[in-house]
Amino acid sequence: MHSFHYQNNSLHCENVDLQDLIQEHGTPLYVYSQATIVDHFTRLDAALDGVDHLVCYATKANSNLAVLNLLAQRGAGFDIVSGGELYRIIKAGGDPAKCTFAGVGKTRSEIEYALEQGVGCFNAESEAEVQRLNDIAGEMGKKAPIALRVNPNVDAKTHKYISTGKSDNKFGINFESIPDAYARAAKLPNVTLRGVQMHIGSQLTSVDPFIEAVKKVTPLVEDLKAQYGIEFFSIGGGIGIVYEDTLASHDAAWWSRDDSDETAAVPITIEAYAQALLPLLKPLGLTIFLEPGRLIAGNAGVLLSEVLYEKKGGSKIFEIVDAGMNDLIRPALYQGHHDIVPVKQPASEDTVAVDIVGPVCESGDFFAQDRELPKLEQGDCIAVLSAGAYGFVMASNYNSRPFPAEILVDGSQSHVIRKRQTFDDLIAGEVIPK
Ligand code: LLP
Repeated sequence: MHSFHYQNNSLHCENVDLQDLIQEHGTPLYVYSQATIVDHFTRLDAALDGVDHLVCYATKANSNLAVLNLLAQRGAGFDIVSGGELYRIIKAGGDPAKCTFAGVGKTRSEIEYALEQGVGCFNAESEAEVQRLNDIAGEMGKKAPIALRVNPNVDAKTHKYISTGKSDNKFGINFESIPDAYARAAKLPNVTLRGVQMHIGSQLTSVDPFIEAVKKVTPLVEDLKAQYGIEFFSIGGGIGIVYEDTLASHDAAWWSRDDSDETAAVPITIEAYAQALLPLLKPLGLTIFLEPGRLIAGNAGVLLSEVLYEKKGGSKIFEIVDAGMNDLIRPALYQGHHDIVPVKQPASEDTVAVDIVGPVCESGDFFAQDRELPKLEQGDCIAVLSAGAYGFVMASNYNSRPFPAEILVDGSQSHVIRKRQTFDDLIAGEVIPK
């Protein structure tokens, strides 16, 4: 998190004091660093210079229009998983032709919309879907560009909810069935075979599963190129980020460090990823697509929250804050660790073990348990770090809690990129029958 640092005893995002943002916009509040988002994209793009490629940002990680616009302006493609995401890309100035449409359950109306808008490719996840794509394209007098998603049956060694490349996951088509699936698809009149895709999971902390998957799929890819003239191979997303000791380790550009000084907390450097995969990918002579989400946005954002009350219960001290699991669900859903730091730099290095919990009526509503943190007082604010990806996008209105505002910081400037929801927003669209 190299754009978040203490300055004058206060946590800053780039050159903006987060205490000022809290004063102006209240809490809970999401804050993103533009420099970080842009930096992550451009570094990854540059690291892949040796091969023809397109970085298709995984929209689901953080789909605020302002974030998408930053990436669209810099030539990014987009990995999308719904009609709604395609709509966002178009509104943000992105190019539908640079979009790959993934997901196991595309509906008829989503397929029609994507065909109308000229989506770059459908990453089909079953043969039934291929058939449907063919039928709908035929009705519309169009050809559907497609790739099949191969499930390579490789263990990504990540949390079971975000592991996707094993044969018992719902994703993709079995490795062994792929040749026949392509042969059948090639006979359909209204589809064009453009590529092949895979994605083995998210938050991978080693390059080894990527290498294993690419090596396993390479002969198949070569075969598909020879037989059907496919143009691209998408190796998916999944590059893990650092969630621990982030402020300390991220002052320097962590991924430009050489591997020898990596600690266990640093999962994959961009260079290590590129160096490991480029030699395997280059000889294929195909365009390589990547679909990173977390890598681009994860360490570019924080969730700010105020301590409402302290409560001592049994053996525990609870710091009850005004953000909840409805605002950031990762700790509750995946036992995800997020570093938490006070916005005002603590005067002392003393710590105390506390649970940071939200106001939602669920025992799963916590951000940290038994965490050693500097002593917090009522009214203090905290920053939940590494919340830029799969944070706001997974927020809900549970307990009728309005969505927080989102702020984008650019140097010394800050922009509200999403207004805080009001109570009226909460009930918009609801009707009491007469
Ligand atoms: N491509 C496909 C087909 C995907 O399913 C995903 C993520 C990505 C790319 C991007 O993966 P990334 O580079 O961000 O790891 N909500 C979970 C993560 C779910 C990931 C779903 N698919 C979390 O908070 O950890």
